[in-house]
Amino acid sequence: METLAALCKRRGFIYQGSEVYGGLNGFWDYGPLGCELKRNIRESWWRSVVQQRDDVVGLDAAIIMHPKVWEASGHVDSFADPMVDCRACRRRFRADQLLEEIGQKLERTPDGKGYVWPDNVACPACGAKALTPPRPFNLMFRTFVGPVEDESSVAYLRPETAQGIFVNFDNVVSTSRVKVPFGIAQIGKAFRNEVNPRNFTFRSREFEQMELEFFIRPGTDAEWHRYWVEERLKWYESIGLPRERLHRYDYPPEELAHYASACVDILYDFPFGRQELEGIAARGDYDLSRHQEYSGKSFVYFDPDTQERYIPHVVEPSAGVDRIALALLCEAYREEWVPTAGVQGEPKPVEPGQPAPEGYELRTVLRFAPCMAPIKAAVFPLLKNKPELVAKAQEIYRKLRRRWPVFYDQQGAIGRRYRRQDEIGTPVGITVDFQTLEDHTVTWRDRDTMQQVRVSVEELPARIAAMLGED
Ligand code: GAP
Repeated sequence: METLAALCKRRGFIYQGSEVYGGLNGFWDYGPLGCELKRNIRESWWRSVVQQRDDVVGLDAAIIMHPKVWEASGHVDSFADPMVDCRACRRRFRADQLLEEIGQKLERTPDGKGYVWPDNVACPACGAKALTPPRPFNLMFRTFVGPVEDESSVAYLRPETAQGIFVNFDNVVSTSRVKVPFGIAQIGKAFRNEVNPRNFTFRSREFEQMELEFFIRPGTDAEWHRYWVEERLKWYESIGLPRERLHRYDYPPEELAHYASACVDILYDFPFGRQELEGIAARGDYDLSRHQEYSGKSFVYFDPDTQERYIPHVVEPSAGVDRIALALLCEAYREEWVPTAGVQGEPKPVEPGQPAPEGYELRTVLRFAPCMAPIKAAVFPLLKNKPELVAKAQEIYRKLRRRWPVFYDQQGAIGRRYRRQDEIGTPVGITVDFQTLEDHTVTWRDRDTMQQVRVSVEELPARIAAMLGED
């Protein structure tokens, strides 16, 4: 992870937030390539969940909402992590993580209000056996709306985007042509004052969610839940995460929230362990019923097909953009032996402890699926001091960039230019050379195989579109 984090910084994917002031723990900034990567994730999700379906519409709700929203949702009372303090060194830890590290699990007391806490646990920082029993620590960031800072002006930065969807259920039903079953999708920032941000961007305090609330007729929960788990798994494969490193965790009944009938987490094998990318929960009518109760407004829906009135149930696939970006980076990252200039051959995997094979050198490459690569193609004139080559390369570059993020580079030896693009995951290099001026063909160099073929300039857009799976 350290090597990957260093590459992310060096090549402009991800920087520590507020770095010039020493950083702010749990906050990250995405550089030129990182923001392209996230944009690809968002756009692919939006296409598959909204655009290419006729039963889901989009929404973009405010980040700060009426504080009653978070009372109704249960976040004010129970969106908390259990914390213990060390009386000796005054450090604070998450109780569940502390026990996990010593192979134990944090259990609730039978009344559900407290936790069973073994009193022989040592402080991981100073070793003293002086930890307080776990206490809840609410994860919502508080702020004030308006000029007066008192309890009446308290508001929260949203800890999930979902509630913006629930409170707009009626607006969407009465202003667009949706009929149950249908969904409302939203992408946006969420904020949680995580006690222990860790694993690079995996657990951050500011992050981005892509959430779908899919409203259904009561009683159809199990089939729609199954459907969405399958849909979402297919989507992860389509963006380049192989099925063998994706896993599902089906919650046993005793781990489900009291209102939920099913929940599946989609997990990915990160270098730091198997961890969650997305949760897909069948939440019954809990959310809409709670908002009905707290707002006094009716959330009862009249179903024109069945002539029934009911509060719709909901299936919620909820994913994190930053975690998916991190999974794509982990999946793409490779160090491999590649032939030095003038030697023929394919890249070879690096075996730990083995020296470079004769005629090979090390390269770092990000093998993104082309649809997720931040830059789709790089265009190079073979030599920068030949105006005919430069002019032709720039003409090709200007044409391609109308459709895709494309990069132009004329600095340095051609081999080094290819290597720079390998490191940021550009799937193809297009080189203009002297033959181009004669027969209108260019070199098409594949990032993964490093094979080079001649392709006519006219063919380039169609070839790039095919590589990206576009029609
Ligand atoms: N509305 C349901 C909900 O918010 P969640 O499991 O708490 O469910 C959904 O969050 C997704 O949001 C997670 O699967 C994860 O991808 C992302 N996420 C949650 N907390 C995060 C954090 N601190 N940093 C980065 N991503 C996070």
